[in-house]
Amino acid sequence: MRDRTSDQQRNGPADDRPHPRCPQAVQVTLGAPLYTIEGFTEVTDSLAAPAPTVGKSDVPTHWYNIVGDLEVAPPPHLHPGTREPLTADDLAPLFASGLIEQELSTETDIEIPEPVREVYAGYRTTPLFRARSFEKALGTPARIYVKYEGMSPVGSHKVNSAVAQAYYNSLDGVTKLTTETGAGQWGSALSFACAKFGIDLEVWQVRASYESKPYRRFLIETYGGTVHSSPSELTEAGRAVLAEQPDTPGSLGIAVSEAVEVAVKDPAARYTLGSVLNHVVLHQTVIGLEAVEQLRDAGEPQADVVFGCAGGGSNLAGLAFPFLREVLHDRAKTRVVAVEPAACPSITKGEYRYDHGDIAGLTPLLKMHTLGQDFIPDPIHAGGLRYHGMAPLLSHTVELGLVNAQAVAQTEAFAAAVLFARNEGIVPAPESSHAIAAAAKYARSLSEPEVIVIGLSGHGQLDLPAYHSYLSGELDQA
Ligand SMILES: Cc1ncc(COP(=O)(O)O)c(C=O)c1O
Repeated sequence: MRDRTSDQQRNGPADDRPHPRCPQAVQVTLGAPLYTIEGFTEVTDSLAAPAPTVGKSDVPTHWYNIVGDLEVAPPPHLHPGTREPLTADDLAPLFASGLIEQELSTETDIEIPEPVREVYAGYRTTPLFRARSFEKALGTPARIYVKYEGMSPVGSHKVNSAVAQAYYNSLDGVTKLTTETGAGQWGSALSFACAKFGIDLEVWQVRASYESKPYRRFLIETYGGTVHSSPSELTEAGRAVLAEQPDTPGSLGIAVSEAVEVAVKDPAARYTLGSVLNHVVLHQTVIGLEAVEQLRDAGEPQADVVFGCAGGGSNLAGLAFPFLREVLHDRAKTRVVAVEPAACPSITKGEYRYDHGDIAGLTPLLKMHTLGQDFIPDPIHAGGLRYHGMAPLLSHTVELGLVNAQAVAQTEAFAAAVLFARNEGIVPAPESSHAIAAAAKYARSLSEPEVIVIGLSGHGQLDLPAYHSYLSGELDQA
């Protein structure tokens, strides 16, 4: 078992709480990592049931920052008032100092602190498996590999950044965090991370998801976080939207404004964002760093195409950037496809320009593909993809020709997800289903073998009402 003494010294009573899963610890081997699950002698939980892991890699020691490898530097974030490039001081009221350093860093390899690696080791290395049955169902000559992040404690990739963000905030003595969440994956990931590092959490959840996905809210509350439906009467930003559009389904842009407003008014609090920013993308690169190694271990020197869904861009960039490192160093010719929903096509239909990350204009100006800060997407089930903008780093790689984009309708996404579930057993998150749909279409079009990697960013076991709607024929085309 891991020695938790150092954690206890750092975090005090928070670490004495029972593990979120169960009270007594034993060790089991789950795929590659030595995995500590409290109270279980074997893994029987179908939510966590691993597909066979191809290859093995340990938890990476460093995150990968693509900025250091790019010949053309990404445009800087700008101060919303002066429109001058942002400094660390400008960001201090919002973010922990360690995260600000990462946001502005041009270093290629950034060390992952040991307490963060310890939490990662609880669920990483995540599986990379060959989806042979899905390949057969598609009738494709492609070899399809799936990198599955649904193995994390809350069922998605979001934990990779939540743990890091909570850790750096705990180092600065922050006692309260605020954030937004769409479908609830980010909110639940951060709530788990805050429980680990003894921080209080307040979450603004987009109304459409707050109402349609109560189980994610219950999960946030189980870990100790407080959840508000957004827009709320608790903030100026929320009240302004409600005055104009009382029936709005909400949007991530509105929820960001509410969470930022509360954080900047409270000196003990800081804000955290679940995607978009450079430091979030950085944390997610553990996905791709593992996948590059795992693919090699499986006897595939490189991927031909990598598909991932893109809401704010963090899971796709996290998976793809380490593959692009191979491209930038002339070791591979991998192409990357960002798959977004037809209801919120930021890259395929948006403009590449400076815009705010939120509706009220409280965040820095970010150079990104955007549909406009006040764009409110239809309430599709992939709540995590309903964001008007895109990670500036991902947008920059699109502009450099390293990444392409496609938009997929939600019915097409669910059709592919159901086929995937019936063949591979895993029910994908509605967000991830977009990547599966685009990859499936591409795989079907091939007459020669290619190696395809799909980012399966989360499971959809708490999204089953959405599957039920699809199977009952009630879903909007959107
Ligand atoms: C499972 C899952 N995948 C993808 C996303 C989209 O976010 P990002 O593009 O930052 O990975 C979300 C967002 O909530 C999500 O929950």
